[in-house]
Amino acid sequence: MSLIRLAYASEATFDAQPVEKGVEPHVARILLTSRKNNARASLVGGLYYGNNRFFQYLEGEEDEVRKTFDRIKRDDRHQNIMTLIEEPIEARTFSDWSMKYVPLSVDVKKFLERQRLDNFNPQAFTAGQCEEMIQLIRDSKQDQKVVNYDESATVATKPAPGMSPGLRFGLIAAAVCLVGALIYAGSLL
Ligand SMILES: Cc1cc2nc3c(=O)[nH]c(=O)nc-3n(C[C@H](O)[C@H](O)[C@H](O)COP(=O)(O)O)c2cc1C
Repeated sequence: MSLIRLAYASEATFDAQPVEKGVEPHVARILLTSRKNNARASLVGGLYYGNNRFFQYLEGEEDEVRKTFDRIKRDDRHQNIMTLIEEPIEARTFSDWSMKYVPLSVDVKKFLERQRLDNFNPQAFTAGQCEEMIQLIRDSKQDQKVVNYDESATVATKPAPGMSPGLRFGLIAAAVCLVGALIYAGSLL
């Protein structure tokens, strides 16, 4: 039993749909299948889709990783698949994730700025950039939300949650008590 890790980059063959249409359906379907299959094969890792390109990272038993990657390579939803990392590891570094999807596009944008890269092109990543991308996926806290690179503007603009009715009632009650206390204090003077 030996563990390996594998990272690759590829280009999507489908046209990215306009941002306002929301979740890219192809990517959503890929994630659904991946999460089901990878959990069964005890594979962990992450997927990033941006600029119509994929960056995927997988860790697990060598046989399972290779079997899955062989299937992935045959998938016609992407092309020009380039293996970036393929090497043994001591232990899995992702926990509880069959396939993590990175919604933190803002982080990826910052990463591109730090690296002085014009756009997301993982096929041209250096070894160091690959490691940074893997770390970014590992550190990503948000999970099920499926967005892509171009939706970064929406990431930071999540509306603040409204005040709950209970809290509103509590505040009104406190204000009434305060006013009452002030009137009472005033009457004592
Ligand atoms: C970019 C990309 C990443 C994928 N990642 C996985 C994956 O991690 N695990 C997986 O089982 N399938 C993944 N798939 C889907 C596989 O290519 C394949 O469609 C799926 O495993 C079902 O294979 P089957 O129809 O032979 O059962 C991925 C496909 C693409 C295009």
